[in-house]
Amino acid sequence: MKTFLGAIALAPFLAAAADIPRTWTDDAVAALEVPLAKPRYSPVHISERDYYRIPERTIYKSYRVHHPQREPAGYMDWLKQQEPQIAFDARKLDTPAEWIAAGELVFNSPLSFGPVFFGAAEVRDPAFYEQTKMPVAKDGTIPFARWVIREKGKVELGSMGCNTCHTRVMPDGTVAPGAQGNNPGDRQGAWMLRRAAKFAPPAQLLKTVRTFALQFEVPGLTDDPNRRGQTLTLEEFITAGEAIPAGVTARSHTSMLLPPQIPDIIGVSERRFLDHTGLVRHNGMADLMRYTTLVQDMIGLARYGDGAPPPPRKGARYSDAQLYALAQYVYSLQPPPNPHAFDRTAARGKAVFEKARCATCHPAPLYTNNKLIAADGFTPPAEDRTRFAVSTSRVGTDPRYALQTRKGTGYYKVPSLKGLWYRGPLEHHGSVATLEDWLDPRRLQAEYIPTGYAGPDGKTRGVRGHEFGLKLSAGDRAALIAFLRTL
Ligand code: HEC
Ligand code: HEC
Repeated sequence: MKTFLGAIALAPFLAAAADIPRTWTDDAVAALEVPLAKPRYSPVHISERDYYRIPERTIYKSYRVHHPQREPAGYMDWLKQQEPQIAFDARKLDTPAEWIAAGELVFNSPLSFGPVFFGAAEVRDPAFYEQTKMPVAKDGTIPFARWVIREKGKVELGSMGCNTCHTRVMPDGTVAPGAQGNNPGDRQGAWMLRRAAKFAPPAQLLKTVRTFALQFEVPGLTDDPNRRGQTLTLEEFITAGEAIPAGVTARSHTSMLLPPQIPDIIGVSERRFLDHTGLVRHNGMADLMRYTTLVQDMIGLARYGDGAPPPPRKGARYSDAQLYALAQYVYSLQPPPNPHAFDRTAARGKAVFEKARCATCHPAPLYTNNKLIAADGFTPPAEDRTRFAVSTSRVGTDPRYALQTRKGTGYYKVPSLKGLWYRGPLEHHGSVATLEDWLDPRRLQAEYIPTGYAGPDGKTRGVRGHEFGLKLSAGDRAALIAFLRTL
């Protein structure tokens, strides 16, 4: 009798659990990534057995963060009175809508409770907003962080969930979750560093920063530009951080000196490769679950080819149910309503798009052919052509991110052109701020000052490659841009 009742109580849970893919299986992880340009140094991830020994992350109820001048009276005192509550409980989830709502919680749930781009003191300091240009939503909140109660009476600022980088405050103050983020994270990091330099012993601070920069060094790469991190002065670190605009960020295992654009993840379900270099193969929700746990937690545990294994460290991981909910939420994200109508100019622009052969790589309806394009200096191995969708064309953009970072597969993927109207800066480094700049032939010249990310010293630099559409007449160019903004 007892067992029978137990079985009834467990039945709904087991039914739900059966649908949740097992995230980290040895076979799936081994097939997940495109090898790096130097295949011998491709990452080898931790085993399934070790993965499931890592404790699961508890997701607590969290609360909105306001600009200090827009905070409701008594809000902080009220937060101090709140009991800690566990917000994510897979046993309570049943309908698709419930799973998506739970995924939103995971999206906004922090990984870090200490200052990273900013901490509790910074979000309560009006000067921080003015000096770093941190955007505030029209309701007075900042969607990039949350207050969390893990212990009664202790109000912690949590950040580095997906929301910190993948949320955009639009010009009208509305919030677009999943869009290319526009919190100026690295500029804030530079601000924090400049302030720390006033109090901390300089040698100690420099040592901390250099240790942080070690993660960007690429095993097996001779003349690794990222090794420069070990000789930069504190002032040069600060300048390098200040040079990184909102929408671009030196994410873990990318590069501080060659930082990537933050992609728009609205519509990601249609993309067959993830990351600019197409590092991760994406054939459905389970791959997105693997991608997420990889970039948020597992990346630091990977051994790069025949390099030394990283030192063991304490940490947590998302549960399979949390990743499943998150993937459903990410797949459900919709673009903000497009104010650009398909008018006569846009119709003319569509014809220009076709005539300029943009559609060979960016065909409707996805506006990407989902292919990989070899960067200059990389010759794809013959087997790649059968294993992955590799295009025979080249675009000749700056090859460094594809060849000189830990994500360097030797390729760039063809990005989708959907949602161009609300995002920027563009290109894998976010080198140009707008479509006008992308289609401006002056960007090729060495004396050009990139309007997006210029480089660690913010100097002149040509934004090379992808010369499609650069020879159009002014009228055709304007029409093409009008069309691109309708997508
Ligand atoms: C610190 C900032 C940061 C955080 C936090 C972050 N991301 Fe990202 N994300 C990036 C950057 C930068 C890239 C591009 C990396 C590259 O191309 O090498 C990226 C790429 C992606 C992509 C690939 C999209 C594409 O089209 O290539 C997905 C999907 C994604 N992130 C989802 C997430 C999810 C889900 C979370 C939360 C669990 C998250 N990210 C947290 C910065 C961040
Ligand atoms: C041979 C393939 C190919 C053709 C043809 C092509 N593109 Fe691209 N496009 C790419 C690739 C690859 C990238 C990414 C390059 C990078 O980031 O280094 C890209 C990037 C872009 C971007 C930046 C997107 C972003 O999110 O940052 C825009 C805009 C764009 N292309 C528009 C066009 C237009 C307009 C045309 C025609 C005039 C065109 N492309 C023709 C392959 C192509």
